[in-house]
Amino acid sequence: MPEDLIYEGKAKKVFATDDPEILLHRYKDDATAFNAQKRGSWKDKGKTNATMSAAIFTYLEAHGVPSHFIEQVDETTIKTKRLTMLPVETVVRNVAAGSLSRLLGFEEGRKLSSPIVELCYKNDELGDPMLNWYHFRELGVSDEDLKFCEELGLKVNQVLAPFFDERGVTLVDFKIEAGRDTGGTLMLADEISPDTCRFWDKVSGERLDKDRFRRDMGGMEEAYAEMLRRVTEITQRGAVD
Ligand code: TMP
Repeated sequence: MPEDLIYEGKAKKVFATDDPEILLHRYKDDATAFNAQKRGSWKDKGKTNATMSAAIFTYLEAHGVPSHFIEQVDETTIKTKRLTMLPVETVVRNVAAGSLSRLLGFEEGRKLSSPIVELCYKNDELGDPMLNWYHFRELGVSDEDLKFCEELGLKVNQVLAPFFDERGVTLVDFKIEAGRDTGGTLMLADEISPDTCRFWDKVSGERLDKDRFRRDMGGMEEAYAEMLRRVTEITQRGAVD
C-alpha cells in the first residue's frame, strides 16, 4: 500500500493510503509530556502502543464497542478507518490521580465512589482544558456528541476495568477520543495504551504507564513490556492473582 504522510504528532505518524477511507497509524518510540515541554524515547514503545491498541480495540469490538480499528499491519502500525475527529478528549477515572487529585485535593489512590467523566477540549495551545457543556456549545460541539463521548467513556470503562483487573492491573483512569466516519457514525478512535491510561499493579501498586516518564521514575521500557505481556499473553481469569 503506498504511503503518504499526512500528519506527524508527538508519538505517531499518520499516513493516507490509496483508499481515501483508510489510514495507517504508525506509533513512534518518542514520548512527550506536559504539552511537549518534556521529551524522551524508549525501546519498543511504538510496538507496545500499536499492539496493545490492536488487542484492546478487538476486545472492545467483541463487547459491543466499535472503533476505527481495522487490523494491525506490522509491529508498530495499525490500519484504521478515516474519521473526522471530535475536538474532545474524554477522561474516565476510577481512582483519584494526577489532575483530579489536584482539582479536588484527593490523595492519589483514593477510590472514587463511582466513575468520574471529564470532557476536555483537544487544543494543545490551550493545554487541553477541561470544559463544561456551555463552553463546548460555544465551540460548536453539540450536546448529542458530548453525550456520546460520556456514554462511550463509561461503556469502555465498564468493559476494560474488569479486563485489566483479571490481568492484575487497576485501571485508574484513561483518555479516549472519538470521530465520525463518512457515513456520519460516531465511534471510538485514537489509541488505548500506557500513554493514555494509568495502570497500577493491583498487588504492589507499581505504576505500569507513562507516569514513570512524566515523573522521572525510570523503568519505562520494562513497564510497557509488562503491560503488553499482560494484555497479549494472559488470557485466563485469575492467572496473575
Ligand atoms: P490527568 O490526570 O493528567 O488529567 O490524566 C488523566 C488521564 O488521561 C491519564 O490516564 C493520562 C491521560 N492523558 C492523556 O492521554 N493525554 C494527556 O495529554 C494527558 C494530560 C493525560
